[in-house]
Amino acid sequence: MIYEPPAIYGIIGNPVAHSLSPVMQNAAFKALEVNAVYKLFPLVDQEELKLFMEDLKEENNPIFGLNVTVPYKEDVLPYLDSIDPLAEKIGAVNTLVIDHQRKIRGFNTDGPGFLSHLTELNFDIKDKRVAVLGAGGTARAIISVLCLLPQGPERITLYNRTRSNAETLVEEIGKKINTKMVTVVDEPEDLNIELADLLINTTNIGMNAADPLLIDPASLHKDMLVYDVIYNPAETKLLEQARLKKAATANGLGMLFFQGVLAFWHWSDVELDERIKKIMRNSLEKASHGS
Ligand SMILES: NC(=O)c1ccc[n+]([C@@H]2O[C@H](COP(=O)([O-])OP(=O)(O)OC[C@H]3O[C@@H](n4cnc5c(N)ncnc54)[C@H](OP(=O)(O)O)[C@@H]3O)[C@@H](O)[C@H]2O)c1
Repeated sequence: MIYEPPAIYGIIGNPVAHSLSPVMQNAAFKALEVNAVYKLFPLVDQEELKLFMEDLKEENNPIFGLNVTVPYKEDVLPYLDSIDPLAEKIGAVNTLVIDHQRKIRGFNTDGPGFLSHLTELNFDIKDKRVAVLGAGGTARAIISVLCLLPQGPERITLYNRTRSNAETLVEEIGKKINTKMVTVVDEPEDLNIELADLLINTTNIGMNAADPLLIDPASLHKDMLVYDVIYNPAETKLLEQARLKKAATANGLGMLFFQGVLAFWHWSDVELDERIKKIMRNSLEKASHGS
């Protein structure tokens, strides 16, 4: 392991207060008896981000790994010394590794985390019809990895409140990834959810009880998986409606877990064993139920 006590890990973003990553990563450190701690680093603006990233380069800085969340997943790119090829294709990073020479390398574990969860759910994506709600950072990671799969979906239909953001997303990732299977549509009805095998909500809508449903629940059906990247609440209105229609459902806690396991691996080169993974997963489940 690369840790030198006291090694510090953490998450930068705004806001970060509700992140469940500290619970999961600190549970792993504790179980492995590693002298390291995972902390929250709220950075209110670009100026704070700049100072923080410059400070990371300092010889005595004890931070060896970070997660990056909204709104800085693209903003940190100029501060990196190198970037993993997948993260470069996606155009966003959510994990940073800082080595002993204080060189910063960026990775994206959101997309692979989502794919690992699909695998755990026994959902075979090959030749499936996928509908996506939202075109933010999470959609970018998920659509990128789906388009990169050698045996990927037949088509991806994408609806976003601001259509131009969806078009920009496809145009930008399309410079490095073949996105010909992706179609941007005008209205949620154009997603043809009645014919979809997988619906993925990547928007923030569903986090609050008062949030509307973005799609007509009548279009949900029993032969599909409805995946919501939101994990708090555990069952969003969308997932509730999907359950009532007897669709398979999943929230984003599994994606959060798998991206965290992968981040840990990038930081430590340690392939976590099943016992530690279980401790991490249990700590997440417990914290999400308690929140
Ligand atoms: N499970 C996990 O591991 C995981 C990982 C990352 C993120 N997440 C979750 O994913 C969600 C999105 O995060 P993000 O980083 O992708 O955020 P983001 O980049 O800010 O994107 C937000 C998306 O939601 C849409 N949206 C926001 N308000 C809306 C509204 N009132 N009506 C319709 N659409 C609306 C935005 O549309 P416009 O383009 O029109 O603004 C955009 O497409 C968050 O809930 C986050 O917690 C989960």
